Amino acid sequence: MATFINEPSHTFNEYLLIPGYSGSNCIPKDVSLKTPLVKFKKGEEPQISMNIPLVSAIMQAVSNDTLAVALATQGGVSFIYGSQSVEDEAAMVHRAKTYKAGFVTSDSNIKPDDTLADVIALTEKTGHSTIAVTENGRADGKLLGIVTGRDYRVSRMEPDLKVETFMTPLEKLIWAKEGTTLKEANDIIWEHKLNSLPIVNESGNLCYMVFRKDYDSHKQNPNELLDSHKRYIVGAGINTRDYAERVPALIEAGADVLCIDSSEGFSEWQKLTLGWIRQNYGDSVKVGAGNVVDAEGFRFLAESGADFVKVGIGGGSICITRETKGIGRGQATALIDVCKARDEYFKETGVYVPICSDGGIVHDHHITLALAMGADFIMLGRYFARFDESPSNKVSINGTYYKEYWGEGSARARNWQRYDMGGENKLSFEEGVDSYVPYAGALKDNVELTLSKVRSTMCNCGALTIPELQQKAKLTLVSETSIVEGGAHDVIQKDNSPKIK
Ligand code: IMP
Repeated sequence: MATFINEPSHTFNEYLLIPGYSGSNCIPKDVSLKTPLVKFKKGEEPQISMNIPLVSAIMQAVSNDTLAVALATQGGVSFIYGSQSVEDEAAMVHRAKTYKAGFVTSDSNIKPDDTLADVIALTEKTGHSTIAVTENGRADGKLLGIVTGRDYRVSRMEPDLKVETFMTPLEKLIWAKEGTTLKEANDIIWEHKLNSLPIVNESGNLCYMVFRKDYDSHKQNPNELLDSHKRYIVGAGINTRDYAERVPALIEAGADVLCIDSSEGFSEWQKLTLGWIRQNYGDSVKVGAGNVVDAEGFRFLAESGADFVKVGIGGGSICITRETKGIGRGQATALIDVCKARDEYFKETGVYVPICSDGGIVHDHHITLALAMGADFIMLGRYFARFDESPSNKVSINGTYYKEYWGEGSARARNWQRYDMGGENKLSFEEGVDSYVPYAGALKDNVELTLSKVRSTMCNCGALTIPELQQKAKLTLVSETSIVEGGAHDVIQKDNSPKIK
């Protein structure tokens, strides 16, 4: 007979934290959000820790090299999406690993025979006003000039005017040679009162742009997450099919940590993948596995060699797995159950396997709840998709900006490997939707605001570290009516425009 769990499973929204005693030493500025990313033995330090407990989802609409750099700058880790060719994924990892803070690969490029209308369309798409004019319109093409807002007046010029007629040509530009240091580049920018400085190689091809606004980025980002060579730490997604080809390419490209990307991880496929990695690389390659939603699934993956275990089925914002297939579990209940199993496993073996809560974060305080329930870090898709740095298009609908966000199980992503249960190589039905999310600006601003709330709540609970929060937290289930009580109620709000959450 089937096993019945008669207790309903719950979501984050059904829980609240009850404040604990906070001493006068418990102030947000002294809270440490440092957290382990990979397993470690009792009394030892994990080989990779993060400075903030956030990782970005292994999704086409979320984690590319640009987002990876932006998140590592704030202290977290991106897992570059695996639903692309091995070469393309390795190239993204390589770009993020070789990224030099302050040296930016130009993302707005145009050809000399393109038009003013093309320039305007490009600035709207990228949100950037400095455009490199290169022979072939690519970021590494021969540099012919630059177009900025100072080069054209939309009201006075024809939209079909060719770029070469109004760009600032190379002869009039100040540029610097490849090999220039960031300090030298910044000196040139200050001396000549420039907004940007192109860096060009011996053949005249564009290598990078250095922008005035990026000056001193290191000093502004004390949490940045670097490896021993001062390069950003970067993760990458793999699947249970082509690992023999993909893993070596990603490791060669410099990936610091891998994660098996699968909608359901309690499977022999994951064991085979982890086994292959351990056989070929021992413990030197770090790899997470998942997703699971109960203690049995956790133990299976921990015993199969996972460096961390990811929890969550059906809670993602773009996910329709529960509707389509009838599998899943409320994210809070799944997390609590798995974290309990993790603690038991630690007591038994002396090995601590970090837990990642994946999906279903709607409000910032859900992050604090997940940490309090035992998660070591949180994976977010929708949250990061909203930012400038995510790979998806920014679109304007009725005067409001949105970014596109689609599930890996949607027809758009066609990531059949994520949903693979053996058999044919295809996605026969969808488990995700294609959607819009409200555009929210720069990652840094949002992450800072979110984490300031997390730190503040931790102080309410008397905790200066994540382990302390996990130990001290008191959580209560709430009734439907008390959820209503939690918002503004029984007043007529003067301003009904959207509020910062
Ligand atoms: P979100 O942060 O709530 O948007 O959830 C992101 C998570 O949803 C990802 O990290 C995946 O675990 C999961 N996910 C991504 N694409 C799909 C899909 O198409 N169907 C179901 N789950 C998905």
